[in-house]
Amino acid sequence: TITNISIDPRDVVAPVSRRTFGSFVEHMGRCVYDGLYEPGHPSADDHGFRRDVIELVRELGVSTIRYPGGNFVSGYRWEDGVGPRDERPARRDLAWRSVETNQIGVDEFAGWCRLVDAELMLAVNLGTRGVLEAVELLEYVNHPAGTRLSDWRVSNGAPEPHDVRMWCLGNEMDGSWQLGAMSADDYGTLAARTAAAMKMADPSIELVACGSSGSAMSTFGAWERTVLERTYEHVDAISCHAYYQERDGDLAAFLASSLDMEHVIETVVATADHVKHTLRQTKTIMISFDEWNVWYYDQHVERERDREPWTIAPRLLEDVYSVADAVVVGSLLITLLRHSDRVRSASMAQLVNVIAPIMTQPGGAAWRQTIFFPFATTSRLASGEVLRASITTDSYATAEWNEVPYVDAVVTYDAPALEAAVFLVNRHLTESRTVSIDLERVPAMRIVEALTLSDPDPTAANTLENPDRVSLAPNASARLDAGRLLIDLPPVSWSAIALS
Ligand code: AHR
Repeated sequence: TITNISIDPRDVVAPVSRRTFGSFVEHMGRCVYDGLYEPGHPSADDHGFRRDVIELVRELGVSTIRYPGGNFVSGYRWEDGVGPRDERPARRDLAWRSVETNQIGVDEFAGWCRLVDAELMLAVNLGTRGVLEAVELLEYVNHPAGTRLSDWRVSNGAPEPHDVRMWCLGNEMDGSWQLGAMSADDYGTLAARTAAAMKMADPSIELVACGSSGSAMSTFGAWERTVLERTYEHVDAISCHAYYQERDGDLAAFLASSLDMEHVIETVVATADHVKHTLRQTKTIMISFDEWNVWYYDQHVERERDREPWTIAPRLLEDVYSVADAVVVGSLLITLLRHSDRVRSASMAQLVNVIAPIMTQPGGAAWRQTIFFPFATTSRLASGEVLRASITTDSYATAEWNEVPYVDAVVTYDAPALEAAVFLVNRHLTESRTVSIDLERVPAMRIVEALTLSDPDPTAANTLENPDRVSLAPNASARLDAGRLLIDLPPVSWSAIALS
């Protein structure tokens, strides 16, 4: 069966936003402690940061990093994490029933972001704190000097402001599990007040209001409408969160996960635009998809019920990802890129050890999980503009969706550089698909590289014992023929082709 894809370089969705390739570091499990920070590790630098992790994060091509949570932020006092380390208090983190030592705080993390060439994106605590603490954190982080809080930062060894551009107004405030969870009305009112105050301090910052925690929330859609009715004039974006997992061994349904992500984006865009018009606003609200990934949530609920509470850096959510998981991650990236006109930033959750592309062994190795590969390659190759691709392919049905296309794809085109990239997924469980892309409307190009992630065993994974079991392989079937690009996609696979 041939899948046909046609593109027109004049049919542009939007420029590729580098912020699509963001990540997320939460003070949770072994993401920070015994993850990116391990002073006793042989590769640790003078600040205690693991150099092997820094190298992998750079290779991953992460653009922005959301910090410090997540559920953690709703109980966090940022002041605990600055100043002399030996004076920082240990506190209970109620979200993850762990002990937070505060050895890493905003100054250290901003420094680490500079080491990995990433932009820092901060979340303020609106679960148990409010307007004052948010504007104080903004002053500490961004004000040059000459005020009490900015001078405190300078005296703590950070003479230059961290210049944080993107700020999240709390985290998942619709979730019953959230410390200080609120109704949409209460949250919308608090977020509007906080946003207005933060923009009084610095109108150039970008603010993200909390959207729903997921499309399965009973208030999904209604929450966004109420929150945006309250906050519209003060905010720039609304957040989306989505996690997917294979349930009951139904791989075909799992591989269709990106259809839910499409539904989330389309619903939130429609809601935001509805509010825009009813409020007679001119500004358009963007989406910050600031948590997304595969997460075997059901298994963790079981496993963590009897966990010993109040320990430092417990092993939490250390999912081991398979080839199929990586194919889903690749397809979610295709969806995010395809919606670049409204999704301007996104953060794969999380970065190290906790539902993460990078794993570490205390005192030992760091390695790439399967999901590392589609992320790193898409971040490396996507450039210029996202083109609208018309895809003709066959489809299958799942319990949730009547028509799931076997092949999905997105194309980016950088006209000045004369470079293009195609990202493809084949969801068929047993059959290959040949894809034919019409390149007639783009100038003559050659194939620079064609890479595929697939395996006869879609459950194959990388582990401490076998860290290189799964990786990308060149796809030798990619060929140019009479103005068409042809490639064979194996079953359950993700591929990328670079042309120039
Ligand atoms: O990423 C793990 C958790 O998922 C985050 O803390 C929370 O925001 C979401 O529920």
